[in-house]
Amino acid sequence: MARFRNGHVTALNPTSIQISPAERLRGILPDPEIAALAPIIEEIEELKVRRKAAILAHNYMTPDIFHGVSDLKGDSLALARMAAETEAEVIVMAGVHFMAETAKIVNEDKTVLIPDLNAGCSLADAITGADVRLLKERYPGVPVVTYVNTSADVKAESDICCTSGNAVQVVESLGVDRVIFLPDQYLGRWVATQTEVEIILWEGACEVHERFTAEELRGYRSLNPGIQIIAHPECPPDVLDEADFVGSTAGMINWVKSERPRQVVMVTECSMSDNVAVESPGTEFVRPCNLCPHMKRITLENIRDALRDMKHEVSIDPAIAERARKSVERMLAVPV
Ligand code: 13P
Ligand code: SF4
Repeated sequence: MARFRNGHVTALNPTSIQISPAERLRGILPDPEIAALAPIIEEIEELKVRRKAAILAHNYMTPDIFHGVSDLKGDSLALARMAAETEAEVIVMAGVHFMAETAKIVNEDKTVLIPDLNAGCSLADAITGADVRLLKERYPGVPVVTYVNTSADVKAESDICCTSGNAVQVVESLGVDRVIFLPDQYLGRWVATQTEVEIILWEGACEVHERFTAEELRGYRSLNPGIQIIAHPECPPDVLDEADFVGSTAGMINWVKSERPRQVVMVTECSMSDNVAVESPGTEFVRPCNLCPHMKRITLENIRDALRDMKHEVSIDPAIAERARKSVERMLAVPV
């Protein structure tokens, strides 16, 4: 079993063959759907025991994965922490490729599997290690803070990583006047509103969050007076200006649980509302549906195949992994 020491774990669901799929998913999915999914969920549970594996699931996974088979779940920061702490021999990342790479970076001796190699991220695709080297030449001595939504190569060129859950604390932990912040321009702009540190930006963006508009949110407010709007900092600044709260996926979940709004719109990937609604019965979720096509590549079927055939194993050049590890571990040491 893994140990936990932070507030970013949104829930702990130590699935085991003692808890049947029906019990785990009752009230979350319709009974006929649960009955149809039960055989594959049981197959996955048996494979997990056989492989001594843990399934780590990001908050954007669909409820069948998130509630049905995951052992540990949370935002990117929690997943990185849990990956560093789990005693499982095999980690299956129910998330996107950079999350699996981060798990491997902090676990060089463990087997890390990603169920679909094409589960990418528009932010990770926005910058290369060569780009970072050029930036460092242009701004000598300015530390590079890199969002975890990047390749190992980019992390290796960076001074420290951050997630949306700790970006402000990471920037301030450096004790400098300015930083290069990569690659999400919108997260970078939001961090700039929270700190005196000057932020040098890169022009990357999340293809899911950049689609939200301030006008759309004003529409939700006029149709639903009193609705609370909570948004992920990957959204453009005018969208964040409309929000009552801005936070990482785990930050948003914790906000709903503590504030218990009557009605809320979560301005982020839409599976998250499905997952949180289960645990917040008193709150009505208004749901714009922007799906992340990369996250949605992960399915129960390819999780089962990953465990059965031990594929697709994530491997990183050891020299790159060693340098990337320093950036990730430096981030994990920053208190939040
Ligand atoms: P979180 O770290 O907030 O979970 O965000 C990850 C992500 O990919 C958001 O799009
Ligand atoms: Fe990347 Fe955006 Fe998908 Fe998150 S939601 S994995 S940032 S493309």
